[in-house]
Amino acid sequence: MFALTARDLRGRTLDCGAGPASFNAEATEEGHRVVSCDPLYRLSAARIRGRVEETSVTLLANVRENTNRFVWDEIGSVENLWEIRQAAMDRFLDDFLRGLEQGRYREDALPHLGFADGEFDLALCSHLLFLYSDTLSAAFHLAAIREMCRVAGEARVFPLLGAYGEPSPHLEPVIRGLRKLGYGAEKRAVHYEFLRGANEMLAVTGP
Ligand SMILES: C[S@@+](CC[C@H](N)C(=O)[O-])C[C@H]1O[C@@H](n2cnc3c(N)ncnc32)[C@H](O)[C@@H]1O
Repeated sequence: MFALTARDLRGRTLDCGAGPASFNAEATEEGHRVVSCDPLYRLSAARIRGRVEETSVTLLANVRENTNRFVWDEIGSVENLWEIRQAAMDRFLDDFLRGLEQGRYREDALPHLGFADGEFDLALCSHLLFLYSDTLSAAFHLAAIREMCRVAGEARVFPLLGAYGEPSPHLEPVIRGLRKLGYGAEKRAVHYEFLRGANEMLAVTGP
């Protein structure tokens, strides 16, 4: 999703809106320094599991009804998608309590993060900005990306499409807004593509 290389992960990385994903657990095991933040982390592990299982049912029913909106080359089937999601959540939940104690999981929400300026080298955000363009305004997107750039040297956002695979109406205004403020903002192709056409990220550097 973010075309990450070992070099990208050399410093400290912040995953914003990280949810019940296994990135932090896997990266930590490989020796990288990753902090994940999400308002979800105020909940207990049991409540997170319940909530994710509930939303997975709706999400997967949706995917099943719209299989042509997705690229199945790697994942293969809706059943495999379910297994992959479950495995990622299990990996996250196994790591959650230890990670909370170590300060690797933090309850925090965009567009105001409780981290110091420049505390991270890279800030990531997947499946939140642009994907929920119908509920999050352009102003929210601009503030959120600026906040990611306040706490990190570079911000990357994926995907750049709305939830139905439509172009996000916020993307071009947000890019223009960032550039006007002196930020570097560019779309970059990535290899990952599950939602058809969602194969670009936005890479932003501070002014
Ligand atoms: C669809 S999930 C994506 C999780 C993960 N990044 C991934 O790609 O699998 C969206 C996440 O954004 C979190 N979220 C919602 N509002 C947020 C905000 N204002 N700031 C940070 N995270 C937020 C939700 O709690 C949820 O875990």
